[in-house]
Amino acid sequence: MKRINIRRITRTSQNDINIAREIIFDYTHFLYLHKSSFNDFRVISDKKNTQIFYYETKIFNWLPFSPVMKFISIKKLIHEKNMFSQAYINLKNKSITYFKCYLKKTDTHIKIINDFSLPVNKVTFLLRKIIVPLINLKMNVMWKEDEEMLNLRNLNNEKDSVYCVPSTFNLEEIKEHNFQKLIEDNFEPDFLFDIKK
Ligand SMILES: [Fe+2]
Repeated sequence: MKRINIRRITRTSQNDINIAREIIFDYTHFLYLHKSSFNDFRVISDKKNTQIFYYETKIFNWLPFSPVMKFISIKKLIHEKNMFSQAYINLKNKSITYFKCYLKKTDTHIKIINDFSLPVNKVTFLLRKIIVPLINLKMNVMWKEDEEMLNLRNLNNEKDSVYCVPSTFNLEEIKEHNFQKLIEDNFEPDFLFDIKK
């Protein structure tokens, strides 16, 4: 499998790095703010600086109908470096995408740098000059949505993420809440297979 490396740089209109960091670390806005980009998004685990997610991503979010790719990803947050690193496994072909996102502060604004290493098949690689700008259009849509949120948070000086993913979206929490009740305390088999020697 071939790889395409893409670097995408965007610039905020303010220079508070704490607010910019919150935006890039915050996943809780994915489902409502980026609803044209995701069919589904679930948290499998969110502990300390490691987050595990399930995604159903629309490849062309600017089209009414788009092919959907399913991924599980692991994301590591490094607060002191204002960055995160992420690896996504494509559930269909098991290929791995790598992504690094980090911030650079200037006097007037913050640069958000996104580095991707995308695994692609031969046809996509040959057509990369056409396909990569189409992928970039998807990022444009998401950046416009993020920029709006960034400006709003800057206006309100919000430095902490507002946590708005219901607990039913976190598989680890679902398990903690329901396991005792459904398995430990009240388990009555509807079918029993008791295999004797
Ligand atoms: Fe976002």
